[in-house]
Amino acid sequence: MGDAIKLIKAREILSSGSTPSLEAKVELESGATGKFSVPYGASAGIHEAFVLLDGDKRRFLGKGMLKAVENINVKIAPLLVGMSASNQKDIDRKMIELDGTENKEKLGANAILAVSVAVARAAAEEQGKPFYQYIREAFGLRTVDYRLPNPMMVVIEGGKHADQSTDFQEYMISPIGKDSVKENVRMGIEVYLMLKRVLKEKGLNVNVGNEGAFAPNGLETNETPISLLIEAIEKAGYKPGEDIGISLDPAISEIFENGKYKLAKEGKSLSSEEVIELFKQWAEKYPIITLEDALHEDDWENWPKLNAAIGEKVAIVTDDLTVTNPKRLKRAIETKCGSAILVKLNQIGSLSETIETCMLARENNWMTIISHRGGGETNDTSMVDLAVAVNSGFIKVGPSRGERVCKYNRLMEIELELGKKATVQGKNFRKIA
Ligand code: PGA
Ligand code: ZN
Repeated sequence: MGDAIKLIKAREILSSGSTPSLEAKVELESGATGKFSVPYGASAGIHEAFVLLDGDKRRFLGKGMLKAVENINVKIAPLLVGMSASNQKDIDRKMIELDGTENKEKLGANAILAVSVAVARAAAEEQGKPFYQYIREAFGLRTVDYRLPNPMMVVIEGGKHADQSTDFQEYMISPIGKDSVKENVRMGIEVYLMLKRVLKEKGLNVNVGNEGAFAPNGLETNETPISLLIEAIEKAGYKPGEDIGISLDPAISEIFENGKYKLAKEGKSLSSEEVIELFKQWAEKYPIITLEDALHEDDWENWPKLNAAIGEKVAIVTDDLTVTNPKRLKRAIETKCGSAILVKLNQIGSLSETIETCMLARENNWMTIISHRGGGETNDTSMVDLAVAVNSGFIKVGPSRGERVCKYNRLMEIELELGKKATVQGKNFRKIA
């Protein structure tokens, strides 16, 4: 059969944060090929699938990925060679079974994911289909009605993604006002460029952090960036909330110490109740449209309270709480922790499980947001095709640096390709299609 897997080969590569990562290449009998390079998370949640690192301090300070590469070349390849590449679920199941652990600890989620997506890409090429269309068909998702995601751009970053900036990790702009991806991207980038001017005028540093966002160190409080964003939106000629909403990801588990959230910048420690109160006030004051990881990744008790307090106005997004894991998402849905899930392929470690999570979200009226990784992105754009395949509300990606803008460029390419066959999420992003 032409779509039988002939060869699987992996190698160590570099990711955007100069940490190693890996790439798998799959070749089919027909000659079709597929590649995928895995990203690496800087502020990874504790419940994410296991990333196998070498731990050999003589190479890349212990962060090499040669063991994962070897697992692909020596263990996974012989298992899958000869199988039909279009049998994605079987391929993923075989690897998961070979691993045999709950969190992919033996082979490494980095190894399994690299092969999982590379196989799918090869099958798509073999069938002569764009990757987003292939995903829809391979997993039996709906085949008509594409609703393209809006951009969600990290424009000021702190926490673990920058040095000496804010305690909270990400302040984002989410352009929703236009009915085209290209125009929404343009608005977002104009605001980003205007923000640079606004920061400069105030004597603030405009060097960028991990995700290509600004990371100035002279900001007064953790609230200051929001007013800067609003100033930039207005100066660029747009209406906050109408054209462009504010999105926040405090990634708050990262500053959780002894039962409290430590805001070093303000010399304060807040309880969960106080955090909920803080975001409630901000939601009243500012045009915030999404709020991600505003409570600890195991605080199942308080997430529903946050959602009850502001969930109607603001889409409450789970990231470290759910880590793209269908089991954790199920619990979050049942306990009403929010209404949207951040999805990162490498949090769970296979394409099939990622799709399962996205479908579970959709069946329960939860929005999906497909996301880049902070510290270690690659130039791969498969996440964008995934977002298009499942009608995600947003793609969350930084506004500058090659490994980020390639995602927007891919999304705009898909928009051109689909033409009238696609509409955009725009302001209706909370209506699940
Ligand atoms: P990470 O950050 O890739 O470092 O986890 C992104 C996020 O928290 O959304
Ligand atoms: Zn996050």
